[in-house]
Amino acid sequence: MKTITLKVNGREEKLTLAPHRTLLDVLREDLGLTGAKRGCEAGECGACTVILNGKPVNSCLVLAVELNGAEVLTVEGLGGPGALDPLQQAFIDHFALQCGYCTPGMLLMGKALLAQNPRPSEDEVKEYISGNLCRCTGYENIVKAIMAVAAGGEQDG
Ligand code: FES
Ligand code: FES
Repeated sequence: MKTITLKVNGREEKLTLAPHRTLLDVLREDLGLTGAKRGCEAGECGACTVILNGKPVNSCLVLAVELNGAEVLTVEGLGGPGALDPLQQAFIDHFALQCGYCTPGMLLMGKALLAQNPRPSEDEVKEYISGNLCRCTGYENIVKAIMAVAAGGEQDG
């Protein structure tokens, strides 16, 4: 077991962890943050996406014990009722909310993309979210929502 300190959605968390546990396990099971979803657990679906030290990662592939001092943003930290992130509002406005499985990952990928490239082209948006799988619907409204935030300059960083 190893004890680490992790900042999650702005809050310091002290955690004592077995070495095999993933960031996804710890978020969902120890911290009760179930926004990141357990899909393939093999780095292929993007349902478990969170932002780690400013970059999107598949949390199912990251060992939590290696994260001492790291910062994590999950969909719970993006915003909530009454204080939505502009991207969450855009997803609502553009009917981009899909099932609860893929949406958190899509939101965090969009957030990470806009932080690094506030004016992406449509192709760049498509490329960026291409690793987040949805087998049910199209990506069209998600792309529209991300483009709307980019065009509107609503990103709050
Ligand atoms: S659950 Fe992590 S990529 Fe699918
Ligand atoms: S996987 Fe979420 S709508 Fe298809």
